[in-house]
Amino acid sequence: MRSVMIIMLLSLQLNVHASETDWRKQANTKEKLKHLIQVIPSTSDIMFQMGERYKNFYWAAKQGKWEFTEYQMEEIQGLVRELMITRPKRKATAQEFLQTGFRGFEDAIKHKNWQKFSRAFENMRGACVQCHADNDHSFIIPAVHPAKGGSPALD
Ligand code: HEC
Repeated sequence: MRSVMIIMLLSLQLNVHASETDWRKQANTKEKLKHLIQVIPSTSDIMFQMGERYKNFYWAAKQGKWEFTEYQMEEIQGLVRELMITRPKRKATAQEFLQTGFRGFEDAIKHKNWQKFSRAFENMRGACVQCHADNDHSFIIPAVHPAKGGSPALD
């Protein structure tokens, strides 16, 4: 009876230790890689950021903050490039978006021109909608005039 108790206690102790092992330190390379791949940003992680940047991009231009506008555009492009790596099945449509979605912004930003920006923004929105349709998410339609972004760099 006593030895059974001791064995039970010992195995309990072992279990506690097992749950405390830290895969980042103890796991072998294969296991580490598996975990890392599981936690790389998903499409929805990236798109959640995309939605925020979409709003900040629009409002930065509307408020005439042109350097901040350009910065937002580059960050949006960066998100798309990140997606191309983390989700290979989105790569072709993401590439298409990079090619068609950014027409007119350079000119609009250079001339600090809201009218030009609005046209380029509408073109980009169309490309967002297109990619959603091509990826079975046509019900996600970014707003023509998005609500103001939450960035503290906006007024
Ligand atoms: C490469 C294709 C692609 C492009 C380009 C793209 N999206 Fe998406 N987006 C998706 C997919 C796929 C989903 C659905 C994500 C999921 O659930 O896996 C999505 C989801 C979203 C969501 C919902 C996020 C959430 O979970 O609440 C928003 C918002 C969004 N996209 C905004 C945009 C905006 C704005 C643009 C353009 C600036 C854009 N997307 C461009 C493919 C794309």
